[in-house]
Amino acid sequence: MKEFSAAAKAEGKKIALVPTMGALHDGHISLIDRARSLADVVVVSVFVNPTQFGPNEDYDKYPRQLEADAQKCREHSADVVFAPSPSDIYAPDASTFVSEEQISQNLCGLSRPKHFRGVTTVVTILFNIVKPDFGVFGEKDAQQVSIIERMVRDLFMDVQIVRAPIVREESGLALSSRNKYMTPAERDGATRIRKSLLAGKALVDDGCTNIDRIKALVINTVTDAKTRVVYVEVVDAKTSLPVSELKIGQCRISMAVWYGQTRLIDNIII
Ligand code: PAJ
Repeated sequence: MKEFSAAAKAEGKKIALVPTMGALHDGHISLIDRARSLADVVVVSVFVNPTQFGPNEDYDKYPRQLEADAQKCREHSADVVFAPSPSDIYAPDASTFVSEEQISQNLCGLSRPKHFRGVTTVVTILFNIVKPDFGVFGEKDAQQVSIIERMVRDLFMDVQIVRAPIVREESGLALSSRNKYMTPAERDGATRIRKSLLAGKALVDDGCTNIDRIKALVINTVTDAKTRVVYVEVVDAKTSLPVSELKIGQCRISMAVWYGQTRLIDNIII
């Protein structure tokens, strides 16, 4: 991969990287299409990164379907699928990590303590291997892209981070590789996530700027017998840091919810 990138760069080509954990769906595909529009060479990485999963999380059962993923990448004119194994990426005695220490403390960081350290570490490794000019990330994981932007700024990394919008099913459910885990009833229940975010946005559109009221409405709308809410927060749309005052158009409601064994996240700009 390093040799390929060096050769492409020597020819003056621009490289765009789309980092993924595979089980590609139309959300990932939209990032690949975006990358295609940005650069001469599109690299899609498919790597289920062990360091971003907690001890009781779904690393083992995370869907792995490399052949189907490669086929989708071909159909969308990606140039390279980079699918290393864990031992290609991590030496047995690897002891160096990259951690962002502010944004990663909130939201998903509270319930997944080492998750973002794993993400920033693997994304740094992928950037060092692929040497992309552009890194394309989805706003589905808004906190993640805020952290990556902060890392790139703080460490003077030579890559431009590009954000792509959330792709949803017709039901409003944001596409996720983890949607596969849900039963049809849970999937049906999970459509309340989008409804609750829209209810929160409608309240703001009606003139409400009271963050506690907005959060309460979202929680009430999403909650049913099957839901377990992890968090609902109003944050800065760019940095994903908590805000004390609502600024119209510059904030985001971010939330995480469990449906059975499936943890889902979503967000909306308000
Ligand atoms: P993964 O969950 O596979 O997501 C890869 C990229 O696809 C992320 O940038 C994510 O935000 C984006 N994405 C997922 N669902 C989306 C949707 N419905 N609409 C738009 N974009 C969507 O995020 C990761 O992998 C990993 O943490 C990774 C960055 C690869 C590091 O291991």
